[in-house]
Amino acid sequence: MSVYVVTGTNRGIGLEFIRQLSQDHTNIVVACVRSPTSDVGNLQSVIEESKNHNAIILDCDISSAESINRFVETLGKQKILADQKVDFLIHNAALNLKPEMNSLNLEPDVVHQMITANVLGPALLTSALLTAKLLSPKVRIFHISSGLGSMAVSLDHKPRQSAGYSISKAALNMLAVHQAEDIKSHLPGAVVALVDPGWVKTDMGGKNAIYEPSESVGNMLKILHDLKESNNGEYFHHSGRNVPW
Ligand SMILES: NC(=O)c1ccc[n+]([C@@H]2O[C@H](COP(=O)([O-])OP(=O)(O)OC[C@H]3O[C@@H](n4cnc5c(N)ncnc54)[C@H](OP(=O)(O)O)[C@@H]3O)[C@@H](O)[C@H]2O)c1
Repeated sequence: MSVYVVTGTNRGIGLEFIRQLSQDHTNIVVACVRSPTSDVGNLQSVIEESKNHNAIILDCDISSAESINRFVETLGKQKILADQKVDFLIHNAALNLKPEMNSLNLEPDVVHQMITANVLGPALLTSALLTAKLLSPKVRIFHISSGLGSMAVSLDHKPRQSAGYSISKAALNMLAVHQAEDIKSHLPGAVVALVDPGWVKTDMGGKNAIYEPSESVGNMLKILHDLKESNNGEYFHHSGRNVPW
């Protein structure tokens, strides 16, 4: 049985991860949502339809160190985990606030919110799980990044898009590059990777997006399950090719 933890799962790409992962009843699936007041109706339906009794919903606000620590403590007490540890950690939750901002009119508070959620959230959650000894020796840490986190891809966008979000995803990419090395002294078999899900039809992606969540998530899960130690620190497109930094 493999243990999956996915953040930001009450809608969009995160919900689709839970839909696909819950189909396999040998999976233990931990679906994280922002807060106890989050609307989890769709998520509950997805879990119920899957009939997977090893899928649970826990709160984890990735913008709050307190919430992250509480989540890790709660996770450690879950009976369904028994002695098992997290095999796959999918950092999916993120914010794209004020996409109309460009580099000349950045609003500091808004950029701070995105750095807190999109960069510090995955950093602190990974560290807290490591410190609590809840990561398996061969854990796969999968960061959902974006093409907008790539300097090379952004150079081709005229006009450039979503400056604040793009900056936060570039910072996330650098976090993953550092994690890929730093985690080795704790868990030599661990792999950290980034993936661009493509332009996906969700609240964030909008209706004009190209991919259905089912296609993007199916592709990303293939990449996740194929990750080898030699892929540590790599940045993938959901199609499987590497994204230029
Ligand atoms: N859709 C695209 O075209 C696209 C393209 C490139 C990259 N991505 C990336 O793919 C991932 C998923 O995007 P999406 O399109 O599914 O976005 P979405 O539809 O906006 O959903 C975002 C999810 O993240 C959660 N979230 C946001 N802030 C959170 C916090 N502080 N703590 C916990 N959960 C939080 C949201 O919860 P609430 O419901 O509580 O707000 C929601 O479940 C993100 O990392 C995004 O950057 C998406």
